Amino acid sequence: MQLIDGKLVSQQIRSELKAEVERMVEQGMRRPHLAVVIVGHDGGSETYVAAKVKACEEVGYRSTRIAFEADVTEEQLLQKIDELNRQADLDGFIVQLPLPSHIDEQKITLAIAPEKDVDGFHPVNVGRMNLGLPCFLSATPAGIIELLRRYQIPTQGKHCVIIGRSNIVGRPVATLMAQKGYPGDATVTICHSRTQNLKQICQTADIIIAALGRPGFVTSDMVKPGAVVIDVGTTRVPDATRKSGFRLAGDVDFEHVAPLCSYITPVPGGVGPMTIASLLLNTMQAAKQTQNLL
Ligand code: GUN
Repeated sequence: MQLIDGKLVSQQIRSELKAEVERMVEQGMRRPHLAVVIVGHDGGSETYVAAKVKACEEVGYRSTRIAFEADVTEEQLLQKIDELNRQADLDGFIVQLPLPSHIDEQKITLAIAPEKDVDGFHPVNVGRMNLGLPCFLSATPAGIIELLRRYQIPTQGKHCVIIGRSNIVGRPVATLMAQKGYPGDATVTICHSRTQNLKQICQTADIIIAALGRPGFVTSDMVKPGAVVIDVGTTRVPDATRKSGFRLAGDVDFEHVAPLCSYITPVPGGVGPMTIASLLLNTMQAAKQTQNLL
């Protein structure tokens, strides 16, 4: 069994990007510039946003954190998005989700200019991904694909079973695994809460991607010996022994599943760290587009 070390790969990506930024600056180009919009004081969101801003600093990007109180109106937020869409020295931006319930997330996502949508959430980017056109890929699916690529895990003709059909993980990763080329060319099955015989389907999988958000859902009796298991779960479960009061739990019963696998991602330290690396990669792509380098 080999552990897929997302933390290590994300550090490699960051050092590659850092070197690329230095080259850009030497050549008289502008540093990539990412803005992150946060609304309210959700603990998880504040942590993620702080990590994104820190990652930008680390690789030499410019970053701007834009904070609104939870009572900001939808109109005020849309006005800020309009401003950011037009800001010439800004390559990309994201609006951290979830948003307070009085704000329509769909409306906000649609308002972001697709060429600045480094989250890859806008329907134009989702549609382009489905057509196999250049686009911004959303962070988690892109991170999973990058891990498979960097570990040179064979995917062609393999049966990839995805558990979960969310718009941000299950469905896009299914599209990417089925697309022509590498990583891809897999035969894909999407399972969800209404799937019958889920255990039997998983038993036929060469690659399992678990993205349903139920700690320990994938058990050893569901996994074929030699399978590759990618665990996307990051559920916070209370843990009094931690300073934070919680720990992150994956969707896979790691202790019993890991010995069966050829490769497996741990939680934490697997897919999670890759998401920020993906955002940084998208921001670099946006910066090159803005400065006509692509
Ligand atoms: N909330 C949790 N993950 C994400 C993400 O990737 N992007 C945004 N904008 N919000 C999130």
